[in-house]
Amino acid sequence: MSLAKTFYLTTPIYYVNSAPHIGHAYTTVAGDVLTRWRRQRGESVWYLTGTDEHGEKVLRSAQANKVSPQEWVDNLVEKEWRPAWRSLNIANDDFIRTTEPRHTQRVQKFLTQLKDAGFIYAGKYEGPYCVGCEEFKLPGDLVEKDGKQTCLIHGTPIEIVKEDNWFFKLSAFVEPLLKHYRENPDACQPDTARNEVVSFLNSGVTDLSISRSTFDWGITVPWDTDQVFYVWFDALLNYATAVGLGDDPDSEGGKKFVEVWPPDIHLVGREILRFHAVIWPAMLMAAGLATPKKVFAHGWLLVGGEKMSKSKLTGIVPKDITDHFGVDAFRYYFLRAIPFGSDGSFSWEDMHARYTSELANDFGNLSSRLAAMIEKYCDGVIPASSYDEELAEALSATVEKADAAICDLDFQGGIVAIMDFCKQVNGYVTVKEPWILAKDPANKAELDAVLYNTAESLRALAILLNSVMPATCEILWESLGAHKSIGALKDQHIADVSKWGQLPVGSVVTKSASLFPRLDVIA
Ligand code: MSP
Repeated sequence: MSLAKTFYLTTPIYYVNSAPHIGHAYTTVAGDVLTRWRRQRGESVWYLTGTDEHGEKVLRSAQANKVSPQEWVDNLVEKEWRPAWRSLNIANDDFIRTTEPRHTQRVQKFLTQLKDAGFIYAGKYEGPYCVGCEEFKLPGDLVEKDGKQTCLIHGTPIEIVKEDNWFFKLSAFVEPLLKHYRENPDACQPDTARNEVVSFLNSGVTDLSISRSTFDWGITVPWDTDQVFYVWFDALLNYATAVGLGDDPDSEGGKKFVEVWPPDIHLVGREILRFHAVIWPAMLMAAGLATPKKVFAHGWLLVGGEKMSKSKLTGIVPKDITDHFGVDAFRYYFLRAIPFGSDGSFSWEDMHARYTSELANDFGNLSSRLAAMIEKYCDGVIPASSYDEELAEALSATVEKADAAICDLDFQGGIVAIMDFCKQVNGYVTVKEPWILAKDPANKAELDAVLYNTAESLRALAILLNSVMPATCEILWESLGAHKSIGALKDQHIADVSKWGQLPVGSVVTKSASLFPRLDVIA
C-alpha cells in the first residue's frame, strides 16, 4: 500500500535584518491556518518556515550595529523570530536557518553537481543591484527619483555591481518553463501572477549571476573559494535542504525527501514571485528534480497606500496589535478582511469594528449565552439530544464550502462561510427565545431541543474555527465539556463535523472566561 504524499507547505525564509513585522506574520499565519486545516482533514502535513541569513542586506545591518553577522543573526533569530512565531501560536514542523550546516553543506553539494552537469559557467556581471531586494535589476524595475535610478519597491537608489562571477544558464529554461505553465496553470497562482510570470519569460530572460566576490557573508563556492553564492541562489534551496536534498535514499534525510517532495505550495509575497516561479523551478529542472506543485503569490499589507516595510518606517510589529486585540483576533483579522492574493490596508478602526461585531458579538456571545442557559435551565449538563434539519443542512453546506475555499487558499471565503453559519445559529436562538420557553415547564422538551441544537452548532464552530483561532476554540471546546465527552479538539476531522448529534447527553458545560473580552479604549 502506498501512503499518500505528505502535504508540504513553505513560507519564504525571512531576512534577519530586523524583527518580524505584521507582513511577515501575515504569510506565516496563513500557512499555519492552511496546515492546521489540512491536519484536521486527517492529512500528513509538513510546514516549514525559517530565516534567510546571508547576503549584503543582513551583513550591512550587522555592521551598522557593530557586531559580527553571525552574532547578529543568532541574536535576532533566538530573541525575535522564534519567539514571535511561538507567541502567534504557529505550529511549524521545522525552522530552517541558512547558516546551519545542514543547509550550507547540501547547497555546496547541489551546486557542484549543477556545475558538473554544465549549467554553471564563469562570466562578468555589470549592472544595477538593489540591496533591499537583493536583486539584479532590469531597466523596467527602476524609476528615476532626484536624478537617481531607484528601486520601485524600496524607493532607494540602486548600486552598480561590476564583478567576475559564476553564472547559471537560466536562459536555457525559458521554453521548458513556458511549457510547464501552459500545461500546469495551477503551478503559479493567482492567474494574474501566472500571467505576469509568462510575460516576463516571453520578454527575454538572460543568464543569472549566482555568486558575489566583494564580500564574504555567504556560502563559499566550493570550486572558487574567493566567492560566495548569491544569497537568493542559496536561499531558494532551503525548501529542499531542510528536507534532506541529495541525501542517500536510505538515510533519514533521503526518506524525508521522498515523503514530501515536491512541495505542494510555496506561499510568497508578490514581490518575490519571479524568484520562485522562474529561477527556482529552473534550478530544479536543471537538477532533474520535480518542480513545486504551486507557487501562490499573495498581496501586500499596505500602510498609507504603500507596501508596509521596516525600511520605510511603516513596519508594525504583531505585538502592537496582539497586546490590544489578542493573538486569535490577529490571526483572524487579516485573513478575514483581505482577499488572499489582493493588497489590503491595515486600519485600527476596521479591526476594532470586526472584533466587536464578528468575534465578540456573533461568536463570543453565542458561546457565553449557551453556557449561561445550560447552567440556568439544565443544571450545567447537555440535555436530551435533538435534531434541527435546517441547522444540520446549513452546517453540511458550510463545511463543504469552507473546505473547498480554504484548500483553494481563499481564506476569506472559508471564514465568511463559517461565520455565516454562526450568524444563522444566533438567528435560531433569537427566534426560538429559550428564555421565554423556560418560563413554562410544559415547554421543557422544546427548550432542551433549542439548547441541544445550539450546543451542537457550537461544537461544529469550535472545530471549523480551530485552525484560525486555536486557543479560543480550545476554551470553547472545554466549556462544552467536549474534551472529556468527545476527545481532543485537534483529533476532530473536518469530514465528520457535520454529523449531527455528537455531543453526548450529560456532557458537563462550564462557563468560560469571555472568548473576546471588551476592549480597552485606545488612548
Ligand atoms: N529572504 C527573502 C525570501 C527568500 S525565500 C527563499 C525575503 N525576505 S523578507 O524578509 O523580505 O520577506 C518577504 C516576505 O515577507 C514577503 O514575500 C511576504 O511573504 C512577507 N511580507 C513582507 N512584507 C509584507 C507586506 N507588507 N505585506 C504582506 N506580506 C509581506 O524576501
